[in-house]
Amino acid sequence: MIASSRLPPGPRMPSAVQTLGWWNRSIPFMERCRARYGRRWTLRLLGTPPFVMLSDPEQIRAVFTASADVLHPGEGARILGPIVGERSVLLLDGAEHLEQRKLMLPAFHGERMERLAGLVGEVTEREVASWPRDQGVALHPRLQSLTLEVILRAVFGLEPGERLDLLRARLTEVLDWGARPVGLLPPLQRELGGFGPWARFKELRAEVDAPVYELIAERRADHAERDDLLAMLLDARHTDGSPMSDDELRDELMTLLVAGHETTASQLSWAFQRLARAPDVAARLADEIDREDGAEYLEATIRESLRSRPVLPNVQPRLVKEPIEVGGWEYPPGCCLVANAYLVHHDPELYPDPYVFRPERFLEHDPGTYTWIPFGGGRRRCLGASFALLEMRIVLRAVFAATSVRPAGDGLELSRRRSITLSPRRGAHTVLSARGERVPAAA
Ligand code: HEM
Repeated sequence: MIASSRLPPGPRMPSAVQTLGWWNRSIPFMERCRARYGRRWTLRLLGTPPFVMLSDPEQIRAVFTASADVLHPGEGARILGPIVGERSVLLLDGAEHLEQRKLMLPAFHGERMERLAGLVGEVTEREVASWPRDQGVALHPRLQSLTLEVILRAVFGLEPGERLDLLRARLTEVLDWGARPVGLLPPLQRELGGFGPWARFKELRAEVDAPVYELIAERRADHAERDDLLAMLLDARHTDGSPMSDDELRDELMTLLVAGHETTASQLSWAFQRLARAPDVAARLADEIDREDGAEYLEATIRESLRSRPVLPNVQPRLVKEPIEVGGWEYPPGCCLVANAYLVHHDPELYPDPYVFRPERFLEHDPGTYTWIPFGGGRRRCLGASFALLEMRIVLRAVFAATSVRPAGDGLELSRRRSITLSPRRGAHTVLSARGERVPAAA
């Protein structure tokens, strides 16, 4: 236990109360802490080391560039272990992490991503065409099935058919489980004599693993040329020349699914939620997409949605392994340093009128490495950022080319926490109407 005098001040209520505030009312909770304690404060959650929340860009730079031996993000993300597996790139540190990351990087190169664009476009067109028009719909669940379909086809390389249906159904159950507090709080990750939610989770995981291992075995035997990410991982070689083992492949496939599915669905939900409430921005986006290809404004809109509602409000916690000084404070081993994207993105000194949704700010300036951090940074920066951006471009373009978007209901929509992400509480409740019959957006 680290004495509170050794860490920056933070809320003094019991950690159970802090956990509840953090889980149920994340954004007001963070805002209150910043108002009271400034750009760094300590959060104490149940069952995890103290989190020192940082939102000063200089201090974030120091954290992102610190030596891999001093800060361990992998250990800071242990709570994801039951789902992604022990060999996941998310959970490794130091040389092991670097080696695994190097194996995976080529799968995300630009040219590779472009080859997947056709597939993403095809899934998007089909899904978007099936969304109801002229009535209130929660877009979040629809975007979740879209992004799940994209990952299963682009990452796992599954074709429509029985196995895709089976994996989709089983994975949805595992991912839903992971979205509940019981899935993420270490004290609750216990078996009670073979019963209880934890025992059920282990059964579910085994049901998912079986078809995944089967797929890996089939793909090892099949030498056809493919564009999916599993093909790249099968070709990857460790520094000693050995291929990735079945267990490594299973863990990385689950990692890509967990890291890439809910995040992209929630980020797109926020983009629609924001655009529905900013009719001028939505109209400009639609016009620019019609007039030319609108690429520049679309990019700015995506960046602004990632600024205004980063779905991971804080990046991976970095566990301090050796004493480190950041911004004049000496941190002892055993606490976690956490760059808080939400708070940096809403700092009025960095972003004037931070609560206004205004893509134009990114036409004027490119995002800064340590002031725009929705994908984290340093050697742990999101591996799938270019894939997520590609998917967001394709989905937003498809929806705005075909429909106009306005909010359903009274316009206000708070956030809710699902697993480690924040998404719109009412699922981005929206009305889509065919373009041409554009209805003025409600206030
Ligand atoms: C809008 C969507 C997404 C957001 C906002 C997002 C955000 C993040 C963040 C904040 C991190 C931690 C970075 C850090 O701590 O410095 C991360 C890591 C990671 N993300 Fe994403 N992500 C998204 C989509 C994806 C997709 C689509 C994939 C893959 C298909 C993916 C794969 C990964 C992986 C593998 C890591 C771990 C990297 C490492 O530890 O070396 N992400 N992501």
